[in-house]
Amino acid sequence: MSKSGLKNLKMKSVDMTDQNIEKIADLFPGVITEIEDEDGNLKKGIDFDLLKQELSADFIEGREERYDFTWVGKRQAIIEANRPINKTLRPCMEESKDWENTENIYIEGDNLDALKLLQESYLNSLKMIYIDPPYNTGKDFIYNDRFVMDSDEYDEETCAYDEAGNRMFKNSKDRGRYHSDWCSMLYPRLKLAHNLLRDDGVIFVSIDDHEVHNLRKIMDEIFGEENFVANIVWQRAFSPVNLKKKFSESHDYIICYCKEAEIFTVLGLKRTETSSGRYSNYDSDPRGPWTSTDLSVGPVNRANVYPIKTPSGRIISPPEGRCWVLSKERFNQKLLDKRIWFGKNGDNTPRLKTFLMEVKSRITPMTFWVREDTGDSQEATRELKLIFDGKLIIDYPKPTRLLKRLGEIISQNDDIILDFFSGSATTAHAVMKLNSEDGGNRKFIMVQLPEACDEKSDAYKAGFKNIAEIGKERIRRAGEQIKNEIEAENKQATLDGEPKKVPDIGFRLLKVDDTNMKDVYYSAGEYSQETIEGLVDNVKEDRKDIDLLYQIILDWGLPLNHRHEIEEIDGFTIHIVDNDSLVACFESNIPESVMRKIAEKKPLRAVFRDGSFRDSPGKLNIEGIFKTIAPDTKLRVI
Ligand SMILES: C[S@@+](CC[C@H](N)C(=O)[O-])C[C@H]1O[C@@H](n2cnc3c(N)ncnc32)[C@H](O)[C@@H]1O
Repeated sequence: MSKSGLKNLKMKSVDMTDQNIEKIADLFPGVITEIEDEDGNLKKGIDFDLLKQELSADFIEGREERYDFTWVGKRQAIIEANRPINKTLRPCMEESKDWENTENIYIEGDNLDALKLLQESYLNSLKMIYIDPPYNTGKDFIYNDRFVMDSDEYDEETCAYDEAGNRMFKNSKDRGRYHSDWCSMLYPRLKLAHNLLRDDGVIFVSIDDHEVHNLRKIMDEIFGEENFVANIVWQRAFSPVNLKKKFSESHDYIICYCKEAEIFTVLGLKRTETSSGRYSNYDSDPRGPWTSTDLSVGPVNRANVYPIKTPSGRIISPPEGRCWVLSKERFNQKLLDKRIWFGKNGDNTPRLKTFLMEVKSRITPMTFWVREDTGDSQEATRELKLIFDGKLIIDYPKPTRLLKRLGEIISQNDDIILDFFSGSATTAHAVMKLNSEDGGNRKFIMVQLPEACDEKSDAYKAGFKNIAEIGKERIRRAGEQIKNEIEAENKQATLDGEPKKVPDIGFRLLKVDDTNMKDVYYSAGEYSQETIEGLVDNVKEDRKDIDLLYQIILDWGLPLNHRHEIEEIDGFTIHIVDNDSLVACFESNIPESVMRKIAEKKPLRAVFRDGSFRDSPGKLNIEGIFKTIAPDTKLRVI
C-alpha cells in the first residue's frame, strides 16, 4: 500500500494456494485460522484437525488402502502448480504480425509460466485446448522444472538448453524416475489448463503407448473420470516398418476430456459431398436421396417375429435368432409411407429407408480416424516441407487436417483455441484454415519454448535458431498462403457472388520474462518506510511503458488481445485499453490538470506509477479527484 492509501497492483501471478484456501473458507468458514507468513504478516490458514472433523464420515486416515495414483514427486508437482511466479509477458511488436488488429496470441517461453500468467485473463474462457506433449519415448528432452531434478543429477551429456540457457534433460528409460518425471512435468500444466477451460470446453491430448496409461490416470484425477469423453485412435502411419521385430505401431491416441460432462456436446462433423454420397434414389422417391438399413435385429423379441410378404409375393421371416426392428403395426405404417425397400426386383429381404433430408446436418464423429480423413505423419511432413522450401524443419509434426477435424467437431464462431506444446504451430495453421473455410472467427493462443535447434539440423541451417522461430514463421507463411488463395478465389468468383473473407492471419507475440518490477517491490517488508521512499523507482531500467501496460493487463485479468491506443494530454502520454476498460499513465510529475482530464474519461480502471506524483500536489489529491469526477473507477498504482 502506498502512503496515500492507494492500493498497489500485485504484479505477479496468482497464488493458487491462496485461492484454494478461499474456496475451502467458502465451504467451511469455521476451519479458517490465522497464521504468520515468512515476513511475520498474518494470513489465512487452515486448521486441518477441524477440517478432518467436518469430513469425519468420509475422511481416509493415513495409510489406509485406497484407490490412488501416485509417483515420486507428485506432492511437489501439486505445490508447483499452485506456486506464484515473479514473471510477466513482454510484448514484442517487431516480430508480431498485424499487432493492431489481430486477436491471436503467440507466447514464447515455458508453458508452465505461461499457463500461470494466463490464469486470470483466461479463467473459464477457452473452448478447446489441444496439446501434443513429448511422448516420453526415451529420447525426448523434457524441460527441467526446477522441482523435477536435483542439480547433482545433471549430466552434461544428456542436457540441452533453451535460448535463456535453461536446461532440458533427456528422459531416458534407464533413469530411475523415468515415468515419474514425465508425470511431474505434465501434471501441473494440465491442472492449470483445466482452470482455463469454459464449462462447455474440451481438451485433446495426443499420446502413444509409452504414457497413455499414466496420462489417463492423471486426466481422471484432474478432470474427473466422469468427464472422460473419448479415446480417439488416429492412424498416423500407413506402411509397416519391417525392421521392427514385434509390431510396427501405426496409431496414436487422442485422449479427450471435457470440463463438465452434463453440458458438453460435440458439434459433429459437417456433412460433406462424400458423406452424402452414400445416399441415392433408386426408386425416384419424391423425398430425395435415401439410404437403408437391415430391418432385422438380434436378439429375438418374440413380439416382433412375424411374416412379411414382399411385393413379388414371397413370404419372408426374420433370420434365425433375430426379429424385425419394428412392431407389426409400425411396419405397416412404414410400408404405407413407402419407407420399406425390397430391392429393385421387389423380392429381397426388407430394409428401412432413411432420407438425407431428414438426417442431422452434422455427423457424430467415430473414435477411429483414418489417414484418408485426417492425413498422416507423412502428410504432415510434406505439408511443412512445402511451407519451408523443401526442408525438414521439425520432427513429428501433426497434419493440419487432423487439427482441423478436432476444431471442426468442437468449435465455432469466436471460440478461443489453445495449444501450449505448439511446436511448428500446426494448430494455428488449422485454426486459420478452418476460419477461411467456414467464415468463423476462432482465435488461437500458441505457447512454445524457444528450444534451441540442433546446429546440424536442417532447421538451424535454414536460419532458425529455435523452435519458437519456426512456429512464428509458419504462421506468417501459412497465413499469406491462405490470404492469396482466398484473393485468387474471389477474383474467379462471379460478380454477384459474396467475396470470401480473409480470416485473422496475424498474431501478437509476447515473451515470458522476469517481472518488470525491481526485487525490492516484493520484499518491501524487509525495508523501512524511509528506504522505500528513498528509492527513485520500482521499475527495472530496461522496461518500457508497453511492458508495464501488459503486466497490468495480466494483473487485472483482462484479455491480451484488447485494442490499445496512445493519446497525448497536455504533452503527457496516456495508454487506453479497449476504450474505457483501462487507462494508464506512467509519466512522472503528472499535474493535477492532467489527472482531472484522465478522470473525466471515467475509465473502469486507472493506473499510475508510484513515482508519478512524488512531491506533486496531485498525489494527495488523486483519490479525491477520482472520487469526485469518476467515483466508479478502480484506482491503482504500481
Ligand atoms: C511433439 S512437439 C509438438 C508438435 C506440434 N504438434 C506440431 O505439429 O508441430 C512438442 C513441442 O513442445 C515443446 N515443449 C516441450 N516442453 C515445453 C515447455 N515446457 N514449454 C513450451 N513448449 C514445450 C517442444 O519444444 C516441442 O516443440
